[in-house]
Amino acid sequence: MADQYAQSGEDKPSTGIPVIRWEEPPEGPVVVLLDQTRLPAEEVELVCTDAPALVDAIRTLAVRGAPLLGIAGAYGVALAAARGFDVEEAAVALAGARPTAVNLSVGVRRAASAHRAALAGGAGAESAAKAALAAARQLHREDAEASGRMAAHGLALLDELLPGGGHRILTHCNTGSLVSGGAGTAFAVALAAHRQGRLRRLWVDETRPLLQGARLTAYEAARSGMAYTLLTDNAAGSLFAAGEVDAVLIGADRIAADGSVANKVGSYPLAVLARYHHVPFIVVAPVTTVDPDTPDGASIEVEQRPGYEVTEVAAPNVPVTGAGGGVPVAPLGTQAYNPAFDVTPPELVTAIVTEEGAVSPVTAEALAEMCARSPQA
Ligand code: MRU
Repeated sequence: MADQYAQSGEDKPSTGIPVIRWEEPPEGPVVVLLDQTRLPAEEVELVCTDAPALVDAIRTLAVRGAPLLGIAGAYGVALAAARGFDVEEAAVALAGARPTAVNLSVGVRRAASAHRAALAGGAGAESAAKAALAAARQLHREDAEASGRMAAHGLALLDELLPGGGHRILTHCNTGSLVSGGAGTAFAVALAAHRQGRLRRLWVDETRPLLQGARLTAYEAARSGMAYTLLTDNAAGSLFAAGEVDAVLIGADRIAADGSVANKVGSYPLAVLARYHHVPFIVVAPVTTVDPDTPDGASIEVEQRPGYEVTEVAAPNVPVTGAGGGVPVAPLGTQAYNPAFDVTPPELVTAIVTEEGAVSPVTAEALAEMCARSPQA
């Protein structure tokens, strides 16, 4: 696989694998994704030739994680434009592919607005398509840059909260370079600590049902050479009780205006555990994840995923798709409760870190003030 970072000179993320890229072969432009459903067994690329293929990749989690969804959505709009499809229709389909991560609709909107503005300014279809692509590329670059700044702010906060270093960090889901143009969000902070010799251990929640922790975070941690240990989600309580966790670092899919945090299901129980055990619970996300139009946690739409993701587990090399590939772990016909995310109230969040800095305690006012400093606001 080509190494895009070698060409761009950007800080190389922890996997060193390009997770998304735009290509223009003679047959027409395509968006190439690293298919995350195949990891860690195989590094397989998925080539999307139109927006519906990208919508499908988003729904099946071949491409996933809030910041990357924004980038994918923007490239999806650019692809529709470059291939001469109905851009407005593609934008609606892409933005609606998954409901919780606000970055997806932010990314789609940026590319679609650039396209619209170009047409309104008298540009032809080809120039308008170029404007959409430029907007997608810009978002991609900004996200990479935001990763580095989040890592710096997050590490400074950790050092302030936990003087003495030797951090033992618990994380949930996957928040590294697989979800970003750069090194990611929460994982980028752990990686920065590791690179400075201040990470004693990364505790990795397996993250049932789709195992983003086991399949993806463990994969990134191993490639980064950090000391990490995988645990079942249910084992977190005993780990806290044993005094083995110094801080929890997670990402976010949407942060409401009041500081409520939607993230991968299982994050809220960690926040409750952290509070009981007096351990900082830190959320790391770009400003684009903060949604001023969502007033509070109750207003966040939580995606409900199919029951087969719970009643089956992925076989090695075979993702759970409902197509019969997974191994059944419940009697046929069993109903399952499968929300993809949960919502942690702001009072359980010690701090929210973005590329613009950190807020602690988390209040609507402090959050709005921090976001207002961003050119993305
Ligand atoms: O369902 P997923 O795998 O897209 O969920 C991803 C998460 O919940 C991440 O923690 C979140 O997007 C933050 S990634 C920086």
